[in-house]
Amino acid sequence: MTVHTVTIEDDGSSYRCSDALSLLEGMESLGKKGIPAGCRGGGCGVCKVQVLSGSYTKRVMSREHVSEQEEAQGCVLACRVRPSSAIALRVIGKMKKNVCRVVEPKDVLSPSQLEIKQETTKWQ
Ligand code: FES
Repeated sequence: MTVHTVTIEDDGSSYRCSDALSLLEGMESLGKKGIPAGCRGGGCGVCKVQVLSGSYTKRVMSREHVSEQEEAQGCVLACRVRPSSAIALRVIGKMKKNVCRVVEPKDVLSPSQLEIKQETTKWQ
């Protein structure tokens, strides 16, 4: 068994993952977050990532979630892939927006804007 470093480029975090575990299992076994988890069995596509560097072994992945073209570009399901070297990846699964979204100052309402918005919502 060999352990490799996995870096999640979206948030700059990293963790150590055994080559006996999938990228998702390795992350979860350490209680870490970063790659969204769903079914953990290749069925939902939530854990989809793009491997930017490094090598891995993969199990069969549904074409419903990873097309041949995407696979050629390094897109994989993190629950179906085990690292065989250090890996750098970015999250591209369905939940990315919720997990990795950066809140811009323009997205944050001031308390007075929030009050107006709530009042407006009441009357609609
Ligand atoms: S968690 Fe559902 S496909 Fe990986």
